[in-house]
Amino acid sequence: MTKKLNVVPFVSVDNMMKLVLHLGVTRMMTEIADYIEADFKRWPLFDKTPRVASHSDVGVIELMPTSDGEMYGFKYVNGHPKNMKEGLQTVTAFGLLADVNTGYPILLTEMTILTALRTAAMSALAAKHLAPKGVKTMAMIGNGAQAEFQALAFQAICGIDTVRLYDIDPAATEKCVRNLAATGLRTVICRSPEEAVEGAGIITTCTADKQNATILTDNLVGAGVHINAVGGDCPGKTELHRDILLRSSIFVEYPPQTRIEGEIQQLEADHPVTELWQVMTGAVQGRTDARQITLFDSVGFAIEDFSALRYVHDRLKGTRFFDELDMIADPDDPRDLFGMLLRAKAAGQGPLATAC
Ligand SMILES: NC(=O)c1ccc[n+]([C@@H]2O[C@H](COP(=O)([O-])OP(=O)(O)OC[C@H]3O[C@@H](n4cnc5c(N)ncnc54)[C@H](O)[C@@H]3O)[C@@H](O)[C@H]2O)c1
Repeated sequence: MTKKLNVVPFVSVDNMMKLVLHLGVTRMMTEIADYIEADFKRWPLFDKTPRVASHSDVGVIELMPTSDGEMYGFKYVNGHPKNMKEGLQTVTAFGLLADVNTGYPILLTEMTILTALRTAAMSALAAKHLAPKGVKTMAMIGNGAQAEFQALAFQAICGIDTVRLYDIDPAATEKCVRNLAATGLRTVICRSPEEAVEGAGIITTCTADKQNATILTDNLVGAGVHINAVGGDCPGKTELHRDILLRSSIFVEYPPQTRIEGEIQQLEADHPVTELWQVMTGAVQGRTDARQITLFDSVGFAIEDFSALRYVHDRLKGTRFFDELDMIADPDDPRDLFGMLLRAKAAGQGPLATAC
């Protein structure tokens, strides 16, 4: 990769797809999960803040910054459930990694695909620590853009071999079955959430609706299951009936953010939750008994995106899967930014020749 500080490696959607296909989807999610786990194990080092959200009636646009003191990263991400009906993505994203020492960016990348990879990696990583051992079947409720990534991450990291699929739109389920056909996963089309959870040791909810929905009712959740609740990630946007939360041991990323955005917004502000990073360091126990219901109340935290950015930055080395972006103004004399304009004018470069 380039050493020129003013030129920033940029990973377009096209190049991200090439990188993913070059490395393989499951390898990439497994390795991103390793990067996330390594970063969660050094959790106290990071700057942490709930993401900065700008809400509208139809969606949300969020900025997610963090730093480990050596590198700084942020992601721009939106969530617009109504987009899908208009032929647009519900979630799109891009992100940046910078060197804290100089403040210069060192990577700019698409993160729509990368978010799907990191969200699935995070879900499976949490389940690795919380789900009952030996589970082979997962219910997957909500079969949209994230769904196949979730299924494949659970296959690679948790050993799932069967996915029971349900979506209110049968076309979404059919798409999932088609896309998962050559992966070795057995897919079962289900006609209701009740059918989907039959015999499933892990239940993933990954629906998009800008309201307090009830995707899972209390009677659908038996003893001993692990719930991976991905779709409830905004104020007023949840997926689980409150009674399920009251029966579950709840694990979260960053409590100040999850209390605003997660399923636990339905509970009192001091309802006990466990921070996942402490389970990963071994400071506290994850699952303690076979009949316990564990719930990962996933909302997506900045450190996961930082880990994914760090991973892509490392994996780009030695590849051609990036463009060089002329992004940082770089005058020969750092104080002579204006002189750089004048020299460009004198050299007759493009529109600058008439602009000054
Ligand atoms: N926690 C995180 O880190 C994280 C990361 C990315 C996305 N998300 C969230 O995950 C959700 C899914 O994202 P996506 O990109 O797959 O969205 P998507 O719009 O592509 O898919 C959502 C699917 O949910 C289905 N659905 C809606 N209501 C349903 C219901 N009541 N029962 C069953 N299915 C239902 C829709 O038909 C659609 O197929 C969104 O809410 C998004 O905000 C969370």
